[in-house]
Amino acid sequence: MEKLMITGGRPLHGTVSISGAKNSAIALIPAAILAESEVILDNLPILSDVAVYAEILEDLGASVSREGSQMKIDPSSIKSIPMPNGSVKKLRASYYMMGAMLGRFKEAMIGLPGGCNFEPRPIDQHIKGFEALGATVTNEHGSIYLHAKELRGAKIYLDVSSVGATINIMLAAARAKGSTIIENAAKEPEIIDVATLLNSMGAVIKGAGTETIRIEGVSELHGCRHSIIPDRIQAGTYMIAAAATRGDVLIDNVIPKHMEAMTAKLLEMGVHIEELDESIRVVGQRNYEAVDVKALVYPGFPTDLQSPMTSLLTQAEGVSVLSDFVYSSRFKHVPELARMGAKIRVEGRSAIIEGSKLNAAKVKATDLRAGAALVIAGLTVEEGVTEVGGVEFIDRGYDNIVENFRHLGAEIWRETE
Ligand code: EPU
Repeated sequence: MEKLMITGGRPLHGTVSISGAKNSAIALIPAAILAESEVILDNLPILSDVAVYAEILEDLGASVSREGSQMKIDPSSIKSIPMPNGSVKKLRASYYMMGAMLGRFKEAMIGLPGGCNFEPRPIDQHIKGFEALGATVTNEHGSIYLHAKELRGAKIYLDVSSVGATINIMLAAARAKGSTIIENAAKEPEIIDVATLLNSMGAVIKGAGTETIRIEGVSELHGCRHSIIPDRIQAGTYMIAAAATRGDVLIDNVIPKHMEAMTAKLLEMGVHIEELDESIRVVGQRNYEAVDVKALVYPGFPTDLQSPMTSLLTQAEGVSVLSDFVYSSRFKHVPELARMGAKIRVEGRSAIIEGSKLNAAKVKATDLRAGAALVIAGLTVEEGVTEVGGVEFIDRGYDNIVENFRHLGAEIWRETE
């Protein structure tokens, strides 16, 4: 097991280039199953979750090769094989195998997904979508069985605008007979990225990025080449780190439009921001104002940045209230930050954060974004060495995190426990 060691107190300076989006990558890789020929994905992040997904496709008989940030997937010899255990259990997003296999083979058998368990994460909306398309879905001995004689287009209203359910329904409906309409669809940029790939493969999907998505099913999809959008959560994490250390950092290879909620909150706190075409410069200040943050679905403030934001808000003067309206109890980072001297209390779905100086401590990441929050907290500590355990969670979502922070002047290194 590895841990991260951080000697903080150094303002970050320089440029960091953001890799492709994890939450797109882990939907685009399974989407490739729907094609009959080679799909090439560019700008892929180097992450353990991506490697696990490549293993899943290889286990099914696909040929997968990877060079740097490019992955070639030839799904032509893929077979419908049950996947009750193994790699699928390691990954939350293995649920996309349901939509992809259903679309291609009209059947799938897959173990219930693993991944970051910061709170119960139901998949009822995914299942409701598959059933509406004509599939029978049963849950036996911890595995989900999906089967359809034929997939038929349908009108599906999502009770919650779930990212996963929206993508999963698009995957299955892309090769169904007739039209599917998803109402109250999620609008996150990763949904548009998946629709763009599917359309390049020959699918007919309109309205991705709005709350109504229309899919005209086609009988066959072909290979293509696609470049993944930049990771807005990774970008936001570096923006927060730059502000928290009172540094001056250019975050490069981003789509500034995707960062609007983040940028607006930093400006409100008093951080200086310069927006360029494909980059954002964040210049930290000595004093920050306390602010209230509400994590919502896109284009609201992203839930995936609420834990890192908690660390920044410990650096503000006064009391901030951070509420998460996507996940009601995503606060496992709070007791760890408290070990570092943070004054935070959780009330319902809100964390109430009083500005305070943090001190070095031994803490543990319990999920990916909690891990990012602890690293940022460690970077602000002026004396001593902060130890962050649970690095395997952080490596699931941050491409080259240690190298990137070192390049920006941080004193951070890995040690084996
Ligand atoms: N929900 C349901 N039923 C469902 C699906 C979701 O009630 O069938 C609820 C969830 O419990 C949650 C809300 O709907 O309260 C939103 O969940 P969503 O389905 O949108 O989340 P997800 O698709 O499981 C993705 C990202 C998460 C990110 C959320 C929200 C992937 C693999 N994961 O999860 O990313 O937090 O969208 O934006 O794309 C992360 O990167 O750290 C991460 C957890």
